[in-house]
Amino acid sequence: MENKHNVLVLGGAGYIGTRLAPYLQNNNCNVTVVDTNWFGNYLPPHINTIQKDIFDLHLSDLVGFDTVIFLAGLSNDPMAEFSPKDNFIYNTGMPAYIGFLAKEAGVKRFIFASSCSVYGYTRNSTFTEEDVAISNYPYGVSKLQGEHSLLALADENFSVVCFRQGTVSGYSPRMRLDLALNTMFKNALSKGEITLSNPKIWRPILGLNDLCDAYLLAINSNLQKGEVINISSFNTTIGELAHEVKSFIQQQYGLEIKITNQNVQDYRNYKVSTDKALQLLNYKPKQDAYSIMLDLHDTVDQYSSFDDERFYNILVFKKIMMSQLITN
Ligand SMILES: NC(=O)c1ccc[n+]([C@@H]2O[C@H](COP(=O)([O-])OP(=O)(O)OC[C@H]3O[C@@H](n4cnc5c(N)ncnc54)[C@H](O)[C@@H]3O)[C@@H](O)[C@H]2O)c1
Repeated sequence: MENKHNVLVLGGAGYIGTRLAPYLQNNNCNVTVVDTNWFGNYLPPHINTIQKDIFDLHLSDLVGFDTVIFLAGLSNDPMAEFSPKDNFIYNTGMPAYIGFLAKEAGVKRFIFASSCSVYGYTRNSTFTEEDVAISNYPYGVSKLQGEHSLLALADENFSVVCFRQGTVSGYSPRMRLDLALNTMFKNALSKGEITLSNPKIWRPILGLNDLCDAYLLAINSNLQKGEVINISSFNTTIGELAHEVKSFIQQQYGLEIKITNQNVQDYRNYKVSTDKALQLLNYKPKQDAYSIMLDLHDTVDQYSSFDDERFYNILVFKKIMMSQLITN
């Protein structure tokens, strides 16, 4: 019997972690989650979950883990723009600090949930990890700086993997309806309308199943030192994606869907290559828009109170930040 990997998932009660933690637990890992539970805790009871701020962890808390996965921080542009200072503290300072503690504690691998947002506004070429990433807005900059500070710690005994994730999509028991495909699906179903800022911009879309596979591959890999790796299921324009959602909803629910274009300038536009993920991890994404929508369709009863604020990170975050201002 192979030894189990001891994996600590920081921010593991969030949208990604709530799918990832049980997946890893079922795949030869002993998982522990640390999370403040900003959005609640929908993890199954068999996952060892500690409600705690990552900044309150001590070196001794990290001893004995083979891998640390960092999923915490402010996870989208609206949160970063609402509180740019906290964005840099949580998305750059916190991974740097906990990366430092993890290395001191003898952890072998640190996997950082970075974002393809680091590529900013590109001119319709497919970006690899070798291309220069330039973003000039808080979320993208903070993720890039988070990568840099972690990569500076990498050496023969401490492997750092920065996953530049596309926009994640699909159902999680801790659901988010503020992510491109999930939002379109919800709006088509609840309003009969999909409103696009600009149909021509490109986005890599990443199904949750493919992402879980990527983390498991990285845990089991022989990666050395520091690597930055794009992780996505497919690239699409927002316009094409909206048409796929429209036909899916028409087919499954018999609803007529209107697509409205606002044609405003977006500050993010990128498509990415996953060749490096294939080469280093044998990562082979399997999900397309249709299979992700089937997942959303099959689980819709779990999140059908579409207006519930817990599905929208910025609404919950504003409340938390405002209450902290009042109590401090
Ligand atoms: N969801 C996406 O499309 C996407 C795409 C690219 C990158 N990412 C990155 O992946 C990570 C996870 O994303 P998600 O969608 O699951 O976000 P999420 O907001 O659902 O989860 C983040 C979790 O981190 C926790 N957290 C935040 N600060 C903490 C702290 N100081 N101590 C303990 N817990 C803390 C929150 O309570 C939350 O449960 C984020 O870092 C995000 O930036 C996400």
